[in-house]
Amino acid sequence: MSRAQWSPRRWRDLPAAQQPDWPDADALERVLKELGDLPPLVFAGEARTLTASLAEVAAGKAFLLQAGDCAESFAEFSADDIRDKLKVILQMAVVLTYGAGVPALKVGRIAGQFAKPRSSPTERVGDLELPAFRGHMVNDDAPDATARIPDPSRLVAAYHQAASTLNLVRAFTKGGFADLAQVHIWNQQFVASSDEGRRYEQIAAEIDRALRFMAACGIDLKAEQSLHQVDFYTSHDALILGYEEALTRMDSLTGDWYDCSAHMLWVGERTRQLDGAHIDFLSGIHNPVGCKIGASTTPTEVVALCERLNPERTPGRLTLITRMGSTAIADALPPLLEAVTAAHHPVVWACDPMHGNTFVSDGGHKTRRFDDILTELKGFFTAHHAAGTWPGGVHLELTGDDVTECLGGFGDILEGQLHERYTTTCDPRLNARQAIDLAFRVAELLRA
Ligand code: TRP
Ligand code: MN
Repeated sequence: MSRAQWSPRRWRDLPAAQQPDWPDADALERVLKELGDLPPLVFAGEARTLTASLAEVAAGKAFLLQAGDCAESFAEFSADDIRDKLKVILQMAVVLTYGAGVPALKVGRIAGQFAKPRSSPTERVGDLELPAFRGHMVNDDAPDATARIPDPSRLVAAYHQAASTLNLVRAFTKGGFADLAQVHIWNQQFVASSDEGRRYEQIAAEIDRALRFMAACGIDLKAEQSLHQVDFYTSHDALILGYEEALTRMDSLTGDWYDCSAHMLWVGERTRQLDGAHIDFLSGIHNPVGCKIGASTTPTEVVALCERLNPERTPGRLTLITRMGSTAIADALPPLLEAVTAAHHPVVWACDPMHGNTFVSDGGHKTRRFDDILTELKGFFTAHHAAGTWPGGVHLELTGDDVTECLGGFGDILEGQLHERYTTTCDPRLNARQAIDLAFRVAELLRA
Protein backbone atom coordinates (compact mmCIF):
# COMPACT_ATOMS: atom_id res chain seq x y z
CA MET A 1 0.00 0.00 0.00
CA SER A 2 1.56 3.25 -1.08
CA ARG A 3 1.77 6.61 0.57
CA ALA A 4 -0.25 8.19 -2.25
CA GLN A 5 -3.56 6.64 -1.13
CA TRP A 6 -2.71 6.91 2.54
CA SER A 7 -5.03 8.69 4.91
CA PRO A 8 -4.87 9.10 8.69
CA ARG A 9 -7.85 6.74 9.02
CA ARG A 10 -6.68 4.00 6.67
CA TRP A 11 -5.38 2.00 9.65
CA ARG A 12 -9.03 1.29 10.54
CA ASP A 13 -9.22 -1.20 7.65
CA LEU A 14 -6.30 -3.22 9.05
CA PRO A 15 -5.81 -5.48 12.05
CA ALA A 16 -4.84 -3.25 14.99
CA ALA A 17 -3.16 -5.00 17.92
CA GLN A 18 -3.46 -3.82 21.53
CA GLN A 19 -6.49 -1.56 21.08
CA PRO A 20 -8.80 -1.23 24.09
CA ASP A 21 -12.30 -2.72 24.06
CA TRP A 22 -14.08 0.61 24.28
CA PRO A 23 -17.52 -0.18 25.68
CA ASP A 24 -19.36 2.54 23.75
CA ALA A 25 -18.33 3.08 20.12
CA ASP A 26 -20.40 6.27 19.74
CA ALA A 27 -18.88 7.84 22.83
CA LEU A 28 -15.43 7.06 21.43
CA GLU A 29 -16.21 8.68 18.07
CA ARG A 30 -17.56 11.79 19.81
CA VAL A 31 -14.32 12.11 21.75
CA LEU A 32 -12.17 11.59 18.66
CA LYS A 33 -14.15 14.28 16.84
CA GLU A 34 -13.56 16.63 19.77
CA LEU A 35 -9.82 15.88 19.71
CA GLY A 36 -9.75 16.44 15.96
CA ASP A 37 -10.96 20.00 16.51
CA LEU A 38 -8.37 20.83 19.19
CA PRO A 39 -5.09 22.59 18.32
CA PRO A 40 -2.05 20.48 17.42
CA LEU A 41 0.51 20.04 20.22
CA VAL A 42 3.57 20.39 18.00
CA PHE A 43 4.18 22.01 14.70
CA ALA A 44 5.30 20.23 11.49
CA GLY A 45 8.37 22.45 11.13
CA GLU A 46 9.65 21.21 14.50
CA ALA A 47 9.26 17.60 13.42
CA ARG A 48 11.29 18.39 10.29
CA THR A 49 14.04 19.99 12.41
CA LEU A 50 14.13 16.84 14.53
CA THR A 51 14.47 14.69 11.40
CA ALA A 52 17.43 16.85 10.36
CA SER A 53 19.04 16.43 13.79
CA LEU A 54 18.44 12.68 13.70
CA ALA A 55 20.15 12.66 10.29
CA GLU A 56 23.23 13.98 12.11
CA VAL A 57 22.94 11.03 14.47
CA ALA A 58 22.56 8.61 11.54
CA ALA A 59 25.74 10.10 10.08
CA GLY A 60 27.67 9.42 13.30
CA LYS A 61 27.99 13.09 14.29
CA ALA A 62 25.64 13.18 17.28
CA PHE A 63 24.12 10.91 19.94
CA LEU A 64 20.43 10.42 20.70
CA LEU A 65 19.34 10.57 24.33
CA GLN A 66 15.71 9.46 24.43
CA ALA A 67 14.44 9.11 27.97
CA GLY A 68 11.51 9.51 30.32
CA ASP A 69 8.77 7.62 32.05
CA CYS A 70 7.60 4.15 31.16
CA ALA A 71 4.05 5.38 31.59
CA GLU A 72 3.17 8.96 32.49
CA SER A 73 0.58 9.13 35.22
CA PHE A 74 -2.53 11.27 35.66
CA ALA A 75 -1.95 11.07 39.42
CA GLU A 76 1.72 11.97 39.51
CA PHE A 77 1.45 15.16 37.53
CA SER A 78 3.01 18.31 38.91
CA ALA A 79 5.47 21.03 37.98
CA ASP A 80 8.02 19.40 40.31
CA ASP A 81 7.72 16.02 38.58
CA ILE A 82 8.29 17.55 35.17
CA ARG A 83 11.14 19.74 36.41
CA ASP A 84 12.92 16.86 38.14
CA LYS A 85 12.68 14.58 35.10
CA LEU A 86 14.06 17.39 32.97
CA LYS A 87 16.91 17.95 35.44
CA VAL A 88 18.09 14.36 35.10
CA ILE A 89 17.91 14.44 31.32
CA LEU A 90 19.86 17.72 31.22
CA GLN A 91 22.47 16.26 33.58
CA MET A 92 22.82 13.17 31.43
CA ALA A 93 23.12 15.36 28.34
CA VAL A 94 25.90 17.37 30.02
CA VAL A 95 27.76 14.20 30.96
CA LEU A 96 27.47 12.86 27.42
CA THR A 97 28.31 16.13 25.66
CA TYR A 98 31.21 17.03 27.95
CA GLY A 99 32.40 13.49 28.62
CA ALA A 100 32.31 12.22 25.07
CA GLY A 101 32.57 15.46 23.10
CA VAL A 102 29.55 14.52 21.01
CA PRO A 103 26.36 16.64 20.75
CA ALA A 104 23.44 14.99 22.54
CA LEU A 105 20.03 15.17 20.89
CA LYS A 106 17.43 15.34 23.66
CA VAL A 107 14.12 13.58 23.14
CA GLY A 108 11.76 12.91 26.05
CA ARG A 109 9.38 10.00 26.54
CA ILE A 110 7.06 12.70 27.77
CA ALA A 111 3.90 14.72 27.05
CA GLY A 112 1.98 11.81 25.54
CA GLN A 113 3.41 8.54 26.91
CA PHE A 114 0.10 7.43 28.44
CA ALA A 115 -0.69 4.05 26.86
CA LYS A 116 0.80 0.61 27.47
CA PRO A 117 0.73 -2.59 25.43
CA ARG A 118 0.05 -5.65 27.61
CA SER A 119 1.06 -9.26 27.10
CA SER A 120 -2.20 -10.50 28.64
CA PRO A 121 -5.67 -8.88 28.47
CA THR A 122 -6.16 -9.62 32.16
CA GLU A 123 -3.97 -9.46 35.24
CA ARG A 124 -4.10 -10.97 38.70
CA VAL A 125 -4.12 -8.61 41.66
CA GLY A 126 -4.27 -10.66 44.86
CA ASP A 127 -7.32 -12.91 44.43
CA LEU A 128 -8.83 -10.81 41.67
CA GLU A 129 -8.61 -11.42 37.93
CA LEU A 130 -8.96 -7.94 36.41
CA PRO A 131 -8.81 -6.45 32.92
CA ALA A 132 -5.21 -5.25 32.42
CA PHE A 133 -4.24 -1.66 33.14
CA ARG A 134 -3.48 -0.09 29.73
CA GLY A 135 -2.22 3.33 30.75
CA HIS A 136 -4.06 6.37 32.06
CA MET A 137 -5.10 7.32 28.54
CA VAL A 138 -7.34 4.23 28.59
CA ASN A 139 -8.26 3.12 32.12
CA ASP A 140 -7.28 3.47 35.77
CA ASP A 141 -4.71 1.36 37.56
CA ALA A 142 -6.82 0.98 40.73
CA PRO A 143 -7.37 -2.74 41.41
CA ASP A 144 -11.10 -2.94 40.81
CA ALA A 145 -13.11 -4.00 37.79
CA THR A 146 -14.95 -0.68 37.24
CA ALA A 147 -11.71 1.32 37.26
CA ARG A 148 -10.39 -0.93 34.50
CA ILE A 149 -13.23 -0.19 32.05
CA PRO A 150 -11.78 1.82 29.13
CA ASP A 151 -13.10 5.38 29.23
CA PRO A 152 -12.69 7.50 26.07
CA SER A 153 -12.88 10.78 28.00
CA ARG A 154 -9.38 9.83 29.21
CA LEU A 155 -8.10 10.54 25.68
CA VAL A 156 -9.08 14.18 26.10
CA ALA A 157 -7.57 14.30 29.59
CA ALA A 158 -4.32 12.88 28.16
CA TYR A 159 -4.30 15.56 25.48
CA HIS A 160 -4.68 18.33 28.06
CA GLN A 161 -2.01 16.87 30.34
CA ALA A 162 0.32 16.55 27.34
CA ALA A 163 -0.37 20.19 26.43
CA SER A 164 0.46 21.54 29.87
CA THR A 165 3.50 19.28 30.21
CA LEU A 166 4.81 20.42 26.85
CA ASN A 167 4.14 24.04 27.79
CA LEU A 168 6.27 23.74 30.92
CA VAL A 169 9.00 21.82 29.09
CA ARG A 170 9.17 24.56 26.50
CA ALA A 171 9.33 27.23 29.22
CA PHE A 172 12.10 25.39 31.08
CA THR A 173 14.21 24.62 28.03
CA LYS A 174 13.92 28.03 26.36
CA GLY A 175 13.38 30.31 29.35
CA GLY A 176 16.65 30.07 31.26
CA PHE A 177 16.35 26.88 33.34
CA ALA A 178 18.45 24.87 30.86
CA ASP A 179 21.16 27.57 30.70
CA LEU A 180 24.63 26.05 31.14
CA ALA A 181 25.13 28.59 33.94
CA GLN A 182 22.52 26.54 35.89
CA VAL A 183 24.46 23.30 35.63
CA HIS A 184 24.79 23.00 39.46
CA ILE A 185 21.08 23.61 40.10
CA TRP A 186 20.08 20.41 38.26
CA ASN A 187 21.97 18.29 40.78
CA GLN A 188 19.23 17.41 43.27
CA GLN A 189 20.11 17.05 46.93
CA PHE A 190 19.86 13.24 47.11
CA VAL A 191 22.05 12.99 44.02
CA ALA A 192 24.65 15.59 45.03
CA SER A 193 25.46 13.69 48.22
CA SER A 194 26.28 10.47 46.30
CA ASP A 195 29.39 9.30 44.42
CA GLU A 196 27.84 9.85 41.01
CA GLY A 197 26.56 13.27 42.14
CA ARG A 198 30.09 14.30 43.16
CA ARG A 199 31.43 13.04 39.85
CA TYR A 200 28.82 15.20 38.14
CA GLU A 201 29.85 18.22 40.24
CA GLN A 202 33.39 17.90 38.88
CA ILE A 203 32.14 18.24 35.31
CA ALA A 204 29.90 21.11 36.35
CA ALA A 205 32.89 22.91 37.90
CA GLU A 206 34.92 22.35 34.72
CA ILE A 207 32.09 23.83 32.66
CA ASP A 208 32.03 26.90 34.93
CA ARG A 209 35.75 27.29 34.42
CA ALA A 210 35.47 26.88 30.64
CA LEU A 211 32.74 29.54 30.54
CA ARG A 212 34.87 31.95 32.61
CA PHE A 213 37.80 31.25 30.31
CA MET A 214 35.76 32.05 27.21
CA ALA A 215 34.45 35.25 28.81
CA ALA A 216 38.00 36.25 29.75
CA CYS A 217 39.04 35.71 26.14
CA GLY A 218 36.53 38.39 25.16
CA ILE A 219 33.76 36.14 23.88
CA ASP A 220 30.33 37.65 24.54
CA LEU A 221 28.65 34.71 26.27
CA LYS A 222 25.30 36.52 26.52
CA ALA A 223 25.10 36.63 22.76
CA GLU A 224 25.68 32.88 22.42
CA GLN A 225 22.11 31.62 22.45
CA SER A 226 23.15 27.98 22.36
CA LEU A 227 24.66 28.27 25.86
CA HIS A 228 21.35 29.39 27.31
CA GLN A 229 18.79 27.04 25.82
CA VAL A 230 18.33 23.52 24.54
CA ASP A 231 16.19 22.01 21.83
CA PHE A 232 14.06 19.39 23.51
CA TYR A 233 11.65 17.13 21.65
CA THR A 234 8.75 14.91 22.70
CA SER A 235 8.00 11.31 21.74
CA HIS A 236 5.74 8.41 22.71
CA ASP A 237 4.53 4.98 21.64
CA ALA A 238 1.85 5.56 18.98
CA LEU A 239 -0.32 2.84 20.49
CA ILE A 240 -3.90 4.11 20.61
CA LEU A 241 -4.42 4.85 16.95
CA GLY A 242 -7.70 6.77 17.33
CA TYR A 243 -5.87 9.37 19.42
CA GLU A 244 -2.99 9.60 16.93
CA GLU A 245 -5.36 9.85 13.97
CA ALA A 246 -7.29 12.69 15.62
CA LEU A 247 -4.10 14.70 16.08
CA THR A 248 -2.80 14.10 12.57
CA ARG A 249 -3.00 17.24 10.46
CA MET A 250 -1.99 18.26 6.97
CA ASP A 251 0.89 20.73 7.01
CA SER A 252 -0.15 23.82 5.07
CA LEU A 253 3.40 24.47 3.88
CA THR A 254 4.14 21.08 2.32
CA GLY A 255 0.76 19.33 2.06
CA ASP A 256 2.24 16.42 4.02
CA TRP A 257 0.57 14.70 6.99
CA TYR A 258 2.10 15.08 10.45
CA ASP A 259 1.00 13.46 13.68
CA CYS A 260 1.01 16.59 15.83
CA SER A 261 0.64 14.73 19.16
CA ALA A 262 4.47 14.62 19.45
CA HIS A 263 7.60 15.32 17.45
CA MET A 264 8.55 11.65 17.17
CA LEU A 265 6.39 8.53 17.39
CA TRP A 266 7.49 4.96 17.75
CA VAL A 267 5.88 1.57 17.41
CA GLY A 268 6.46 -1.22 19.92
CA GLU A 269 7.66 -4.78 19.50
CA ARG A 270 4.08 -6.03 19.97
CA THR A 271 2.45 -3.73 17.40
CA ARG A 272 4.95 -3.59 14.56
CA GLN A 273 3.36 -6.27 12.30
CA LEU A 274 4.25 -5.46 8.67
CA ASP A 275 0.61 -5.72 7.53
CA GLY A 276 -0.82 -4.25 10.67
CA ALA A 277 -2.50 -0.96 11.45
CA HIS A 278 0.35 0.63 13.40
CA ILE A 279 3.00 0.27 10.71
CA ASP A 280 0.53 1.54 8.12
CA PHE A 281 -0.20 4.57 10.27
CA LEU A 282 3.47 5.41 10.84
CA SER A 283 4.25 4.88 7.14
CA GLY A 284 2.04 7.83 6.18
CA ILE A 285 2.98 10.48 8.70
CA HIS A 286 6.07 12.58 7.99
CA ASN A 287 7.37 12.83 11.56
CA PRO A 288 10.56 10.98 12.40
CA VAL A 289 9.50 7.50 13.55
CA GLY A 290 11.00 4.73 15.65
CA CYS A 291 10.52 0.98 15.65
CA LYS A 292 11.39 -1.34 18.53
CA ILE A 293 13.31 -4.44 17.50
CA GLY A 294 13.45 -7.53 19.73
CA ALA A 295 15.94 -10.39 19.72
CA SER A 296 13.82 -12.71 17.58
CA THR A 297 13.53 -10.24 14.69
CA THR A 298 14.99 -11.63 11.46
CA PRO A 299 17.19 -9.65 9.04
CA THR A 300 14.51 -9.97 6.32
CA GLU A 301 11.90 -8.57 8.67
CA VAL A 302 14.04 -5.56 9.67
CA VAL A 303 14.82 -4.68 6.07
CA ALA A 304 11.12 -5.00 5.20
CA LEU A 305 10.30 -2.61 8.07
CA CYS A 306 12.88 -0.14 6.73
CA GLU A 307 11.37 -0.36 3.25
CA ARG A 308 7.88 0.17 4.62
CA LEU A 309 8.74 3.04 6.97
CA ASN A 310 11.43 4.77 4.94
CA PRO A 311 11.19 3.79 1.27
CA GLU A 312 12.90 7.03 0.23
CA ARG A 313 15.83 6.30 2.56
CA THR A 314 15.64 9.74 4.15
CA PRO A 315 18.35 9.97 6.84
CA GLY A 316 16.82 10.72 10.24
CA ARG A 317 13.36 9.49 9.30
CA LEU A 318 13.77 6.06 10.92
CA THR A 319 15.28 5.05 14.26
CA LEU A 320 15.59 1.36 15.04
CA ILE A 321 15.46 0.85 18.79
CA THR A 322 16.90 -2.55 19.67
CA ARG A 323 15.67 -4.17 22.92
CA MET A 324 17.18 -7.60 22.97
CA GLY A 325 18.21 -8.48 26.50
CA SER A 326 21.71 -8.66 27.94
CA THR A 327 22.29 -12.30 26.97
CA ALA A 328 20.76 -12.21 23.48
CA ILE A 329 22.26 -9.05 22.04
CA ALA A 330 25.71 -10.40 21.12
CA ASP A 331 24.17 -12.96 18.73
CA ALA A 332 21.00 -11.18 17.71
CA LEU A 333 22.23 -7.69 16.78
CA PRO A 334 25.14 -8.30 14.31
CA PRO A 335 23.07 -9.98 11.54
CA LEU A 336 20.60 -7.08 11.66
CA LEU A 337 23.35 -4.45 11.41
CA GLU A 338 24.77 -6.28 8.43
CA ALA A 339 21.43 -6.62 6.62
CA VAL A 340 20.37 -3.00 7.11
CA THR A 341 23.79 -1.72 6.01
CA ALA A 342 23.76 -3.98 2.93
CA ALA A 343 20.31 -2.63 2.02
CA HIS A 344 21.68 0.95 2.27
CA HIS A 345 19.14 2.11 4.82
CA PRO A 346 20.44 5.18 6.70
CA VAL A 347 18.88 4.42 10.10
CA VAL A 348 19.64 5.70 13.57
CA TRP A 349 20.49 2.73 15.79
CA ALA A 350 19.44 3.22 19.40
CA CYS A 351 19.74 0.81 22.32
CA ASP A 352 16.83 0.25 24.69
CA PRO A 353 18.62 -1.74 27.41
CA MET A 354 15.53 -1.77 29.64
CA HIS A 355 12.75 -3.83 28.08
CA GLY A 356 14.70 -7.00 27.34
CA ASN A 357 15.90 -7.21 30.94
CA THR A 358 12.71 -7.17 33.00
CA PHE A 359 11.89 -9.90 35.51
CA VAL A 360 9.76 -10.39 38.60
CA SER A 361 11.68 -10.43 41.89
CA ASP A 362 11.02 -12.97 44.65
CA GLY A 363 9.02 -10.31 46.45
CA GLY A 364 6.76 -9.92 43.38
CA HIS A 365 8.14 -6.62 42.02
CA LYS A 366 8.77 -6.18 38.32
CA THR A 367 12.39 -5.06 38.21
CA ARG A 368 15.64 -4.80 36.21
CA ARG A 369 19.26 -5.19 37.24
CA PHE A 370 21.51 -2.20 36.61
CA ASP A 371 24.25 -4.67 35.63
CA ASP A 372 22.08 -6.32 32.97
CA ILE A 373 21.28 -2.87 31.57
CA LEU A 374 25.02 -2.11 31.38
CA THR A 375 25.78 -5.48 29.81
CA GLU A 376 23.26 -4.87 27.06
CA LEU A 377 24.71 -1.40 26.45
CA LYS A 378 28.23 -2.82 26.20
CA GLY A 379 26.97 -5.51 23.80
CA PHE A 380 25.39 -2.77 21.71
CA PHE A 381 28.65 -0.80 21.44
CA THR A 382 30.70 -3.95 20.76
CA ALA A 383 28.41 -5.07 17.94
CA HIS A 384 28.47 -1.62 16.33
CA HIS A 385 32.26 -1.30 16.58
CA ALA A 386 32.64 -4.69 14.90
CA ALA A 387 30.16 -3.84 12.14
CA GLY A 388 31.54 -0.35 11.52
CA THR A 389 28.14 1.21 12.28
CA TRP A 390 27.45 4.10 14.64
CA PRO A 391 25.97 3.25 18.06
CA GLY A 392 23.66 6.22 17.73
CA GLY A 393 21.78 6.47 20.97
CA VAL A 394 20.02 5.15 24.03
CA HIS A 395 16.35 4.81 24.92
CA LEU A 396 15.75 4.74 28.68
CA GLU A 397 13.03 4.66 31.30
CA LEU A 398 13.85 6.96 34.20
CA THR A 399 12.42 9.35 36.72
CA GLY A 400 13.81 12.33 38.62
CA ASP A 401 12.68 10.81 41.90
CA ASP A 402 14.60 8.77 44.41
CA VAL A 403 12.68 5.56 43.64
CA THR A 404 13.73 1.96 44.32
CA GLU A 405 12.56 0.13 41.21
CA CYS A 406 15.74 -1.14 39.50
CA LEU A 407 18.30 -3.24 41.37
CA GLY A 408 21.96 -2.31 41.84
CA GLY A 409 23.85 0.78 40.72
CA PHE A 410 26.17 2.83 42.93
CA GLY A 411 23.55 3.09 45.68
CA ASP A 412 23.23 -0.71 45.34
CA ILE A 413 19.49 -1.16 45.72
CA LEU A 414 18.82 -4.67 46.99
CA GLU A 415 15.86 -6.93 46.38
CA GLY A 416 14.54 -6.40 49.91
CA GLN A 417 14.47 -2.63 49.35
CA LEU A 418 12.34 -2.57 46.20
CA HIS A 419 9.12 -2.06 48.16
CA GLU A 420 10.47 1.10 49.87
CA ARG A 421 9.80 3.58 47.07
CA TYR A 422 8.27 1.60 44.22
CA THR A 423 5.89 4.08 42.56
CA THR A 424 5.83 3.21 38.86
CA THR A 425 2.45 2.44 37.30
CA CYS A 426 4.11 0.09 34.83
CA ASP A 427 7.80 -0.80 34.31
CA PRO A 428 10.69 -0.20 36.76
CA ARG A 429 12.58 3.03 36.05
CA LEU A 430 16.13 4.15 36.79
CA ASN A 431 16.23 6.70 39.59
CA ALA A 432 18.19 9.94 39.12
CA ARG A 433 21.40 8.52 40.60
CA GLN A 434 21.30 5.37 38.49
CA ALA A 435 20.53 7.47 35.39
CA ILE A 436 23.54 9.73 35.91
CA ASP A 437 25.76 6.77 36.68
CA LEU A 438 24.59 5.24 33.41
CA ALA A 439 25.36 8.45 31.49
CA PHE A 440 28.97 8.28 32.72
CA ARG A 441 29.26 4.68 31.54
CA VAL A 442 27.80 5.52 28.13
CA ALA A 443 30.20 8.48 27.79
CA GLU A 444 33.08 6.07 28.50
CA LEU A 445 31.81 3.63 25.88
CA LEU A 446 31.49 6.48 23.38
CA ARG A 447 35.06 7.63 24.04
CA ALA A 448 36.53 4.14 23.69
N1 TRP B 1 22.50 24.18 23.57
C1 TRP B 1 23.59 23.24 23.72
C2 TRP B 1 23.07 21.79 23.69
O1 TRP B 1 21.89 21.59 23.80
C3 TRP B 1 24.40 23.50 24.99
C4 TRP B 1 23.59 23.38 26.24
C5 TRP B 1 22.90 24.40 26.88
C6 TRP B 1 23.37 22.20 27.00
N2 TRP B 1 22.28 23.91 28.00
C7 TRP B 1 22.54 22.58 28.09
C8 TRP B 1 23.80 20.88 26.86
C9 TRP B 1 22.12 21.62 29.02
C10 TRP B 1 23.36 19.94 27.79
C11 TRP B 1 22.53 20.31 28.85
O2 TRP B 1 23.85 20.88 23.56
MN1 MN C 1 8.17 0.27 29.60
